[in-house]
Amino acid sequence: MTVLEWTDDGIRLLDQARLPDEEEYILCDSLDVICEAIRSLRIRGAPSLGVASAYAVLLGATKIAATDAAGFREELETMATMVKGTRPTAVNLFWAADEMLAAADGAEGGPEGMLAAMRERAAKIETDNRERHVKLSEAGAALVEPGAKILHHCNTGPLATHERGSALGVIYAAHQQDKGIHVYVDETRPLLQGARLTCWELDQWGVDYTLITDSMAGHFMKAGEIDMAVVGADRIAANGDTANKIGTYTAAVLAAHHDVPFFVAAPLTTVDFSLPNGAGIPIEQRNPDEVRGYRDTTWAPAGAPVANPAFDVTPADLIAGIITEMGVARAEYTDSLATQREQQTELRA
Ligand code: MRU
Repeated sequence: MTVLEWTDDGIRLLDQARLPDEEEYILCDSLDVICEAIRSLRIRGAPSLGVASAYAVLLGATKIAATDAAGFREELETMATMVKGTRPTAVNLFWAADEMLAAADGAEGGPEGMLAAMRERAAKIETDNRERHVKLSEAGAALVEPGAKILHHCNTGPLATHERGSALGVIYAAHQQDKGIHVYVDETRPLLQGARLTCWELDQWGVDYTLITDSMAGHFMKAGEIDMAVVGADRIAANGDTANKIGTYTAAVLAAHHDVPFFVAAPLTTVDFSLPNGAGIPIEQRNPDEVRGYRDTTWAPAGAPVANPAFDVTPADLIAGIITEMGVARAEYTDSLATQREQQTELRA
């Protein structure tokens, strides 16, 4: 399955807003179209947003008319700012746009050289992203006991990560190792990424699962039906506080109450080392209609007052470990995540 790809005509992507009813690809041939696709969750999930962001900046850059380096750079900045304005929480989107600006800044040969450097950087972001998820999936699978019953929230498979998966990558790797796992899939209100997308991916992999509403997780933990929880992340602060899909915090509190180990799986590109803790993570507030109903069906009065934060922040002390491509970081995360980053920088040097 191709989640998103760069083509001569633009960015081709599987429209996740229509899954699982329709498996339709759309072509984003302008910056406006790809930005709309990001805003409306046709492409979504932090690492997928990173890859989309890199190609969105590249797509914009191919349309720049300026023939001098300074003019080109100025327009490029405006385009990167547009991409960064689409959704505020997933840090991968910002990281990748900045990587593209840095590639242009390091290039010689005017606009042509800058474009060539950006093409190369976007392709590298994409291939690195795959490698990161393969590694973190293997690292996480080692934590999964045979026969484990695992709670999962939102969607973190290839749709969300472009390839392989983060939390679902861990689950898939454990499944491939014949560990006989069973997944409890939170449906994930309001946009149902768990019910629509995670079930769709688990069906394709042949992994056993049970779909539950978000509010059932405590009941199954109390019944001893859940051995561990693993979720993804949209932005992890330097101290391990983790922003992820709304409802993650509730699941983590329940897990702590029932002594269920609660893991986060994400590549280091999701760690925002500039934030000492989760208090500074911007939380996206989405359209109230997403809570009043779903697609064409509504179940609340048209004007019902609504709150719709798309993410919440789970404090680091509720997290048993953060699984990255560099292994499993444990508390204190300010030290362990920084060490992982240093080790990765050394390896790449
Ligand atoms: O609003 P979404 O669907 O983009 O939110 C996605 C999530 O919260 C995922 O759990 C997170 O990005 C991790 S993806 C591997």
